[in-house]
Amino acid sequence: MQHPKIVAIYGSPRRKGNTATLLKKAVEGARESGADVEEIVLRDLKISPCLEIYGCLQAGECAIKDDFQVVRDKILQAQGLILASPVFFYTVSAHTKILMDRFQSLWVKKYWVDKTPKEKQTSTRKGLFISVGATKGKKLFDGMLLSVRYFFDVLDMELWKALLYRQLDFQDDVLKHPEYLEEAFEAGKAFVKAINS
Ligand SMILES: Cc1cc2nc3c(=O)[nH]c(=O)nc-3n(C[C@H](O)[C@H](O)[C@H](O)COP(=O)(O)O)c2cc1C
Repeated sequence: MQHPKIVAIYGSPRRKGNTATLLKKAVEGARESGADVEEIVLRDLKISPCLEIYGCLQAGECAIKDDFQVVRDKILQAQGLILASPVFFYTVSAHTKILMDRFQSLWVKKYWVDKTPKEKQTSTRKGLFISVGATKGKKLFDGMLLSVRYFFDVLDMELWKALLYRQLDFQDDVLKHPEYLEEAFEAGKAFVKAINS
């Protein structure tokens, strides 16, 4: 698989904020290593929160029809996902969380409709997660990492790497750290190699 498909999800409401700048660098790195990368900006899409009506119990298909289906299909067809979200109240942004929650339909398909035994679960794909927060607490990313791990699990995806940066708050703060941008670029390149290996 020399040119793997990767989906890059911009999860911040800020178009040119810190996570977007870092993700762009990772995307550049991944493209340089030959990946076919599709960028998705969540704030441009109309995705309803999960309404917990469990229409997905029928056949594992979400009953709400909006931009979710397009994003879901792209993610499911990809070998890798690069997800970027800022820390909002110690978890991912609302845009990101809304997308995650809609994948409950896939969880229902796997475990309730298809009855996939837990032991038959395999990680067939890889995920790279990027986040930033304004403060510097030790536990700043703990909450969101739990959400991301379980989200990736539903996607049969292993969390390959998480790039987590503290003390970035104003939109351009990350530009004061060229070493972070370089790390994101290199991670994008290495991500493709990891997928190909
Ligand atoms: C609604 C909201 C909630 C936030 N919650 C936190 C938080 O819990 N901890 C923290 O360190 N920063 C928090 N921040 C600050 C952002 O993480 C920070 O500004 C970050 O750089 C934004 O990333 P972006 O530029 O990619 O959007 C919050 C910001 C907003 C707008």
